[in-house]
Amino acid sequence: MKVAIIGGGSSYTPELIEGFILRRDSLPVKDLVLVDIEEGQEKLDIIYELSKRMLEKAGSKIKLTKTLDRDQALKGASYVLTQLRVGRIEARAKDESIPLKYHRLGQETTGAGGFAKALRTIPVILSIAKDMERLCPDAWLINFTNPSGMVTEAVLKNSKIRSIGLCNAPIGLQRGLADQLKIDPKDLYVEYVGLNHLSWTKRIFVKGRDVTEELFSKDDFVEYVAGIIGGHKGAKELVAALKTIPSYYCSYFFFEDQAIQKDLDNIKEGKGTRADQVMALEEDLFKLYASPDLDEKPEQLSKRGGALYSEAALSLIESIHNNDGKMHIVNVMNKGAITGLPHDGVIETNCIVNKSGAHPIASGQLPRGSSALTKAVKAYEQLTIEAAIDGCRQTALLALVSNPLIHGADKALDILNDLLKAHKPYLPQFYSKED
Ligand code: G6P
Repeated sequence: MKVAIIGGGSSYTPELIEGFILRRDSLPVKDLVLVDIEEGQEKLDIIYELSKRMLEKAGSKIKLTKTLDRDQALKGASYVLTQLRVGRIEARAKDESIPLKYHRLGQETTGAGGFAKALRTIPVILSIAKDMERLCPDAWLINFTNPSGMVTEAVLKNSKIRSIGLCNAPIGLQRGLADQLKIDPKDLYVEYVGLNHLSWTKRIFVKGRDVTEELFSKDDFVEYVAGIIGGHKGAKELVAALKTIPSYYCSYFFFEDQAIQKDLDNIKEGKGTRADQVMALEEDLFKLYASPDLDEKPEQLSKRGGALYSEAALSLIESIHNNDGKMHIVNVMNKGAITGLPHDGVIETNCIVNKSGAHPIASGQLPRGSSALTKAVKAYEQLTIEAAIDGCRQTALLALVSNPLIHGADKALDILNDLLKAHKPYLPQFYSKED
């Protein structure tokens, strides 16, 4: 089995390496290729050396290579993992700060920030899918590049490559919930519906018993769930009415003012945007990674939001490879599993996974009180995907104005113009050669 990791120089790669080591019996990986772009060479070299030390320490027989040649990495691959950031962390800093100028949320994956990230990322991932059609047409594209739902939908609609999108949020939610209920995660089953970064835990089962009503009748449980969306005034009442667990990304929609204020305060206090904080974290991480004495994943990596994503990715590959039919919460085409969302739209939900792919389990209606928001965001996502592909400013404007975090065509236009200008080198689809 050959696995290619695109964006191999990412600081998250040691998580994946640790995962491959832990799964040596169930995932017989022979070749592991880390691939990156020229600007990422230095990081790629550091990650490669650390990964080699980790594999050697574990006595692993995996043959690890690194390359800047994507074709070479893709040739003959069975699985291609994408974990890239077009425009690197500097572009994220712009996504997070430009909308704030207009008192709108700049967030990596939701609102205007996520919109700009989608415009930059979708064409690049589609070009990878095209290369895969040529070099490894039967391989699986396992995408965790954000915005993961939109990126996966773009691939599924515009290429022949089989792809599944994933995120660490569902596994994080399940682990947190098991801790809260003081139960073994194996005894927990959640019915999880919605979109990537806009999801809802509709029903909760413990040892097969539906305990949803019982849990939401308890004040301490409602308080715990309110904490997931920030614990602001109104959160408890909202959760008690919803009787469902909103993912923490829902807090950006329910408590938008507070989220904007927090970002503005952080900037005022010199803490910068999350991108600035991540840059500092990454600097420390890479210093640590470069030390020849380090031969395991350092604890510090857990300070990044993507913790546990290797668990999500590798257990998914394990289910495909071993045809085990286990349940995973991943991003797939809806095909009617959730009523009210488009058939041809990607959703994040429970799926049975085997070697023919991820098959969504039908769950019917979205939870009461969640559907207007979820449908609006899906409509925004579909317009954004269109705009990312055809580079049409009018479609892009319609997408932004449809986003519930934008409020108003005047703001949408200003933010769109600023974002397109700031990211011009990464948005060739929006600029003709003369521009
Ligand atoms: C979350 C999300 C990921 C995202 C990450 C950002 O956990 O689920 O999709 O990439 O946070 O974390 P960061 O440390 O980069 O802010």
